[in-house]
Amino acid sequence: LDNGLMRTPPMGWLAWERYRCDIDCEHDPKNCISENLFIDMADRLAEDGWRELGYVYVNIDDCWSSKERDKQGRLQADPKRFPGGIKKLARYLHDRGLKLGIYGDMGTLTCGGYPGTPLDKIELDAQTFAEWEVDMFKYDGCYSNATEQEQGYPLMSKALNATGRPIGYSCSWPAYQGGLPPKVNYTQLGQICNLWRNYGDIQDSWDSVLNIVNWFSENQNVLIPAAGPGRWNDPDMLIVGDFGLSMEQSRSQMALWAIMAAPLFMSNDLRTISSRARSILQNKMAISINQDPLGIQGRLILKEKSNIDVFWRPLSNNASALVFFSRRTDMPYRYQTSLAKLNYTTGSYKVFDVFTEETMKLKDSTDFVVSVNPTGVVMWYVSAPAKSNLRQFY
Ligand code: GLA
Repeated sequence: LDNGLMRTPPMGWLAWERYRCDIDCEHDPKNCISENLFIDMADRLAEDGWRELGYVYVNIDDCWSSKERDKQGRLQADPKRFPGGIKKLARYLHDRGLKLGIYGDMGTLTCGGYPGTPLDKIELDAQTFAEWEVDMFKYDGCYSNATEQEQGYPLMSKALNATGRPIGYSCSWPAYQGGLPPKVNYTQLGQICNLWRNYGDIQDSWDSVLNIVNWFSENQNVLIPAAGPGRWNDPDMLIVGDFGLSMEQSRSQMALWAIMAAPLFMSNDLRTISSRARSILQNKMAISINQDPLGIQGRLILKEKSNIDVFWRPLSNNASALVFFSRRTDMPYRYQTSLAKLNYTTGSYKVFDVFTEETMKLKDSTDFVVSVNPTGVVMWYVSAPAKSNLRQFY
């Protein structure tokens, strides 16, 4: 969507995967969906080095609203859990250089059973969000049918634009259409949405991450051309820092999300996150690969019989990123290849290992070995070749 927003994949924090629809503030005050949760996360983003790295969105998901609209028919936040209201929360975030995202649904009800935003409420709710100074809106699709969705998703795009406030627009539409053409029209999506969910919800497990990676790789020829500045495929939240992933698997999720040019929305507890998980999420090179201005989504280029997958992403300045991903479950695997075998042209390259931070020089023709841990990755940033082969002409 050409609204000037999200020219690189959006980054921030999103409540859903970790906090779900926990509304029991009496017994679980630290984790329930309430303004305190978002204020806590905003404080962490602003004070623990996240914001400077680009993690600026703080996104409310389902279960934030009151079960009833107000007397004028407008959505309203649950008065007990958000006593200050959404506008005040937005101000709190803006004062700290952060942005607020909110959630709604195309149907009569949200997936969690809260008031939806069906066709006849689209303009009103878009105006309400703009008035609250919301910066991003996720439009879910529960309890709506295909005909309503066909009208509703474009209509919401127009309505948000008409408010005059820049509001990033996340569409769950394709996930409700099976994610693939001919039902999903990716050209249209790119025109009306900044990002879209194409596939099922991520859960706190390695199984779930693998499942998503598999679907995105199997369908990459459809998905890659759909992505670009202002329009991104969204494989769902980062669960690094939660309970389901080992450290190897956490690096794998970060590396694969970076290479896929995925939005980076963490859903975790930034108040208690381990320093190891934090260092993965705050890895500068992984982030800069994800945020590359060309905005070309990477692809799976090789699936080896040894169960090593190789992913590649072209980057600006003739650079590129490689991910060697092990699907093995035995021991670190010594994978041998060369840049030439990975389709690199003749030349001498500089390689930076994203997680060990080691550098080395490598000729395209020289065989090398990477040791890839079970369910883990080795990730490289490869600089443009030194033009050594041109020297003979000067
Ligand atoms: C759907 C969405 C999730 C989340 C929940 C909320 O399942 O795909 O991301 O928003 O609804 O109920």
